[in-house]
Amino acid sequence: MIVDQKAHLPFAEIPFSTTHSPVEKQRSACVVLGVSAARKLSPTGLALDAASFGALTALLKSGDLGTTVGATAVLYRPAGLLCERVMLVYLGKPAELDARNYRKAAQGAMARLKDTGATEVLWCLGEATVKGRDLAWQAEQTVLAYGDAFYRFELTKSEAVKPAVLRGFKWHLSERVQRDTVQAALARGMAIVAGMSLARDLGNLPGNLCTPTTLADAAMDLAESHHLAVEVLERMDLERLEMGSFLSVAKGSDEPPKFIILHYQGAAAEQRPVVLVGKGITFDAGGISLKPAAEMDEMKYDMCGAASVLGALHAVAELGLPLNVVVLIPTCENLPSGRANKPGDVVTSMSGQTIEILNTDAEGRLILCDALTYAERFNPACVVDVATLTGACVIALGHVTSGLLANDDALAHALVKAGEQAADPCWQMPLFDEYQDQLKSNFADMANIGGRAGGTITAAAFLSRFAKKYKWAHLDIAGTAWKSGKDKGSTGRPVPLLVNFLIAQAGRHPGK
Ligand code: BES
Ligand code: MN
Ligand code: ZN
Repeated sequence: MIVDQKAHLPFAEIPFSTTHSPVEKQRSACVVLGVSAARKLSPTGLALDAASFGALTALLKSGDLGTTVGATAVLYRPAGLLCERVMLVYLGKPAELDARNYRKAAQGAMARLKDTGATEVLWCLGEATVKGRDLAWQAEQTVLAYGDAFYRFELTKSEAVKPAVLRGFKWHLSERVQRDTVQAALARGMAIVAGMSLARDLGNLPGNLCTPTTLADAAMDLAESHHLAVEVLERMDLERLEMGSFLSVAKGSDEPPKFIILHYQGAAAEQRPVVLVGKGITFDAGGISLKPAAEMDEMKYDMCGAASVLGALHAVAELGLPLNVVVLIPTCENLPSGRANKPGDVVTSMSGQTIEILNTDAEGRLILCDALTYAERFNPACVVDVATLTGACVIALGHVTSGLLANDDALAHALVKAGEQAADPCWQMPLFDEYQDQLKSNFADMANIGGRAGGTITAAAFLSRFAKKYKWAHLDIAGTAWKSGKDKGSTGRPVPLLVNFLIAQAGRHPGK
């Protein structure tokens, strides 16, 4: 089957390494070199310029290098040098080289690299100091820029285009002592990129090829390759658990629902796990409250929460982080049919609380609430759910930040910090009790919708009723999990945020 080709694997095979020997003495397909405003070369740049009889200065004088951060110019086979290419990357004013600008520069360089035929790189941008960030951060973000530029999805194309690949990446160290730090950060970046690629592949697969069964298979593959414990609950098991809310969504489709449970044990068995819950609606047509046809295809991405927790777990296992993680994925389709939920139906959740389904399109919370109840049995240190939950979140925050709501401020803060560190930001919204009033129902303990006002908040308010027994946070990734338009595709977010959060939870802070 097409899906078995596993497009994300090539990423894992690229050797990222470090070198400390002088760049002008090294053979390389492409040296990537920073140029600051005022056309200043770095120490390595000056050495290369001298060895090439001023070829770099000549290029800078030509004016071919643009003056926006990330602009590039390439020099081919410069006389006097052993490398095939030198790529100059414009970094702007040193005082303005912050996290955002470094990312721009790295993205510009990686995009240009992809267009050249170069299959290996000698990366010298580590010579520039990034405001407020350390070298480890730079290295990790460089690998992320690589992942973004070189990822492609062609599992569903009949003829594979020959993909641009890098076979080698060397980070040039200005001081040998940086070696271990950079090496560890490159490995961390690679693990994140591999996790993101897995999440992106699953997200980009269409609904006919990515069903709940496909997600269960992906989870079992992950378990096998990383020696994790895995369990997949079937409809009968869910009936026994009385997951009436989840099952009510699932019954509108012919595809069997699955409830996936993965355990990663990196610490003593007694240590309380972090539980990650991912929304796994493999296609959301809205059910009887049918969505409009325009852009409905994008609802194949309604399992991106599930894909991101799988991707995060992949990275955690690859890095061997010293903590325990449990991943829970309720997965099914949300379709209209003769057996589907109807507006006005009342169902009983696993918690015993009853729910009036006023809109069958608010199905994410209906499957997540039972997973949140199930999470209680793990005595979690905390629970984080990840879901493409509300269109309202896209209106509120656009495509830049994920929505964050939590019943614990320290946990919310840790997630905001992790997002900032990973350049995969989220933004906290309030979860005041007052919002609960909007969920009042005349016929059940609660309604599944709270009206148009504060749609992201009322969705979280609904979930909070099932997360009373532990510290809990909710990430609404409706605006960040994929891009629409001509660049339509899964982003792999919030894998970087989740991995940085888990690294911090494990007490292994980046850069140490
Ligand atoms: N999966 C959607 C949310 C969504 C919609 C994400 C569009 C990204 C883009 C979710 O299941 C949904 O349909 N939510 C409804 C809730 C409403 C009925 C209260 C929505 O946002 O319209
Ligand atoms: Mn929906
Ligand atoms: Zn949905």
